[in-house]
Amino acid sequence: MTMAWDKAGWRSKERIQMPDYTDAAKLAEVEARLGRYPPLVFAGEARDLRSKLAAASRGEAFLLQGGDCAESFDEFNADLIRDTYKVMLQMAVVLTYGAKVPVIKIGRVAGQFAKPRSAPTETVDGVELPSYRGDIINALDFTPEARIPNPDNMLRAYTQAAASLNLLRAFSQGGFADIHRVHEWNLGFANAAGAADQYKVLADRISDSLDFMNAAGINSDNNHSLHTVDFYTSHEALLLEYEEALCRTDSTTGLPVAGSGHMIWIGDRTRQPDGAHVEFCRGVQNPIGLKCGPTITTDDLLRLIDKLNPENEAGRLTLIARFGAGNVGDHLPKLIKAVEAEGRNVLWTCDAMHGNTIKSSTGFKTRPFDSILREVREFFAVHKAEGTVPGGVHFEMTGKDVTECTGGVRAVTDEDLSSRYHTACDPRLNASQSLELAFLVAEELENRLQAQRKAG
Ligand code: PEP
Ligand code: CO
Repeated sequence: MTMAWDKAGWRSKERIQMPDYTDAAKLAEVEARLGRYPPLVFAGEARDLRSKLAAASRGEAFLLQGGDCAESFDEFNADLIRDTYKVMLQMAVVLTYGAKVPVIKIGRVAGQFAKPRSAPTETVDGVELPSYRGDIINALDFTPEARIPNPDNMLRAYTQAAASLNLLRAFSQGGFADIHRVHEWNLGFANAAGAADQYKVLADRISDSLDFMNAAGINSDNNHSLHTVDFYTSHEALLLEYEEALCRTDSTTGLPVAGSGHMIWIGDRTRQPDGAHVEFCRGVQNPIGLKCGPTITTDDLLRLIDKLNPENEAGRLTLIARFGAGNVGDHLPKLIKAVEAEGRNVLWTCDAMHGNTIKSSTGFKTRPFDSILREVREFFAVHKAEGTVPGGVHFEMTGKDVTECTGGVRAVTDEDLSSRYHTACDPRLNASQSLELAFLVAEELENRLQAQRKAG
């Protein structure tokens, strides 16, 4: 049985990586107002996503989770949402083709505003100010006023999340994501080289198959699944005042549900088994993600699994491994062995971004494409050796033609980083790098499928 839980219970636990609001009255007013607002997602959707993630944990589906490191108030417009969505659709098509199983699409979007930081303050030219913690908390400008945590930002984040989700639902259900439009998702600048050509070949093949199916009487008019997709939202549940205010009781099951997004995850810095973040997340019925970085021990992991998934239900818990290229073999096998020995149902996915951040020779925070790819390959190799399921990938990416990660076929160099470096936080893959990576992950999935078929 689960221990008693209350949505405010996290308040008696140690809180880290959260702001100390100075205006308590304003904070209380914002929390009360958010508490009256409609939830952004419906509990039934979170339950559907759980059952899909359960399928991924058995190798019957594959998870693609991606989007911005941090959403921002300034960079908020329909084109940006549409372009990132298009890249996700393209990647999903490529992965589906490789894996021959459904690809579950989850955006880091409509709530991904709060950021954990490595230091509480930041010093520039001898001036020390509190760190920027994401637009839901304070502002990026390097002034004392901008860095004061402002409760009103939660209302703005909610509004932006609602508008983003509304557009994403319209794209997903309204015909934009109809598989017959597979050619139209290409973004102009991605056409220049490499992955875009490969994508066109694949899209042609899919169009051929659709023509054949149409001749046989199967088309978007009579087959809903060709016309729509399911697209889910996710974010790190870092700002617990916001999460608590949007927590609701599901009228169908009577259980609590986080109304802020379909899936929420616990970051690598806030996964203390007795801490506030684990306490909040353990009580909501949404699928939960848990980032697993190099400092996690097998004991920590098993304790966390006990707390977060006491009923051992498949689809409830996604373990998001983020060790860094070259380090996967030192960490992942022992964690997998411990989970297997205890018979725990989890979905393993690979965040190939957060363990691969370096400083470029030109002073930018960046991530080399080759390291990202290498971490994915190591993740697949470890699962192959252990006989377990590599169930998904997790990327920071954008539909914008940014230059934030180095490498890829249209090689971005250290010198190029300054030309279109727009991230408010971590470096993201651009559209062409994302697509290229999807093809390389699809290759891994195809190899796995072939090995399985051979084994009979
Ligand atoms: C993130 O996903 O943006 C993040 C901060 O990750 P992690 O907690 O794994 O460092
Ligand atoms: Co990040």
